[in-house]
Amino acid sequence: MTFDFEIADIGLADFGRKEIRLAEHEMPGLMATRREYASLQPLRGARVTGSLHMTIQTAVLIETLVALGAEVRWASCNIFSTQDHAAAAVVVGPDGTTDDPRGVPVFAWKGETLEEYWACTEKALSWPDGGPNMILDDGGDATLLVHKGVEYEKAGTVPDPADAENDEHRVVLSLLERSLREDGGRWTTIASGVRGVTEETTTGVHRLYEMDRDGSLLFPAINVNDSVTKSKFDNKYGCRHSVIDGLNRATDVLIGGKIAVVCGYGDVGKGCADALRGQGARVIVTEIDPICALQAAMDGYQVDTVNEVVAFADIFVTTTGNFDVITADHMRRMKHQAIVCNIGHFDNEIDTAGLSEVAGIVRENIKPQVDEWTFPDGHSVIMLAEGRLMNLGCATGHPSFVMSNSFTNQTIAQIELFTKSDDYPVGVYMLPKHLDEKVARLHLEALGIRLTTLTEEQAAYIGVAVDGPYKPDHYRY
Ligand code: NAI
Repeated sequence: MTFDFEIADIGLADFGRKEIRLAEHEMPGLMATRREYASLQPLRGARVTGSLHMTIQTAVLIETLVALGAEVRWASCNIFSTQDHAAAAVVVGPDGTTDDPRGVPVFAWKGETLEEYWACTEKALSWPDGGPNMILDDGGDATLLVHKGVEYEKAGTVPDPADAENDEHRVVLSLLERSLREDGGRWTTIASGVRGVTEETTTGVHRLYEMDRDGSLLFPAINVNDSVTKSKFDNKYGCRHSVIDGLNRATDVLIGGKIAVVCGYGDVGKGCADALRGQGARVIVTEIDPICALQAAMDGYQVDTVNEVVAFADIFVTTTGNFDVITADHMRRMKHQAIVCNIGHFDNEIDTAGLSEVAGIVRENIKPQVDEWTFPDGHSVIMLAEGRLMNLGCATGHPSFVMSNSFTNQTIAQIELFTKSDDYPVGVYMLPKHLDEKVARLHLEALGIRLTTLTEEQAAYIGVAVDGPYKPDHYRY
């Protein structure tokens, strides 16, 4: 079998396969889902385009989708997040060799340019005989490309890339301009074939609800992020693990005793603040939401504004999903060699573009994904992963066990939308609570957790069934 793919080095496949084997053991929910549905093949006929960090854990997700019958094409959702050995192993596949790859077409490598990144997303969406019928997205870039493509095809024109808001916007406009020239109905055809998208993260979900509200959403979507077993685990405990990993691999600075500022105290912020405190940092939280600010205070953190603390903090981590949270002016006022990084989905939380425009500023690359920016007055800031999510840029993202929860939700959501698409008119949906509880249940045994079983009388007393769901939908965990 031959197929197209673009990765860094297929020779890394053996290493990738060994790590996939270890990861499979740490992903009990995903592997149980594979066993449960193996004979049913619910994804037979599904052509899934994935846009999600091409890591070892994602490799186990991809091979689960294939095991359930799907054909898959994949791109990463960030220029720095691909693990090249994972990409190679997925291309080769469990039964192939480097000379005879039999796996999945992957278009991803660590350190893509923005042009390469969007070309990879386009390739993952371009099937030999048409488009995907399912999208699995993280941050919504694949969904965005299809929607923008359709919008401009309807208009018959693409805005001039010269008027783009930033480099990335320019790249997308140029791609769509070429696409419109070559085939004026391409994205409309692709969109009409898509049964739905399952979205992994807070930022992507935010985009989906916006499109749903303004009536531009073209196909149904499942919000995987807000499954409890996703956002309250991956976003929180995943970041609790990987924020420290990113800081250590990038800087190896001693965190204990330092003043660390965590911007945002949502799920990701809670995990990051906890991890930094665990290392002995003195943590300050910033928030715009009085509820989250009060939570942070009651969890024992000082809550203040970036403005007030910018001059004396050592480490800054943005976790807001918002933009311009740390500005060039903030960085101008930071202390020498303050570390600045972002773990939110997009790179605009820190104004890196503004930083590069400061008159007289000098950028020195220390090593991949670590840059020192020196201001004319001689003080510098250390920027991780160019302001992109540092846990995937400077380290390897979340560990397998927590991703098993997220990706079991993803797999269930793909099955749900693909097999019951008639039940889902265009809109954004959540998985039902009993499936959320099922995902958690699949992870208990591996941790040696014994669950208490309700008696019939106890269940009746609190008004639930013995087998769940145990909480009303409005319960917040
Ligand atoms: P969330 O909505 O739970 O938390 C964000 C918090 O930031 C909110 O409490 C909000 O009030 C606060 N906030 C907004 N603007 C702010 C500002 N200007 N200053 C201070 N606080 C502000 O979202 P969640 O789930 O924590 O996700 C945050 C970001 O992280 C998203 O972009 C998400 O996609 C991304 N993410 C990244 C992961 C990674 O591995 N790097 C994993 C999971 C999510």
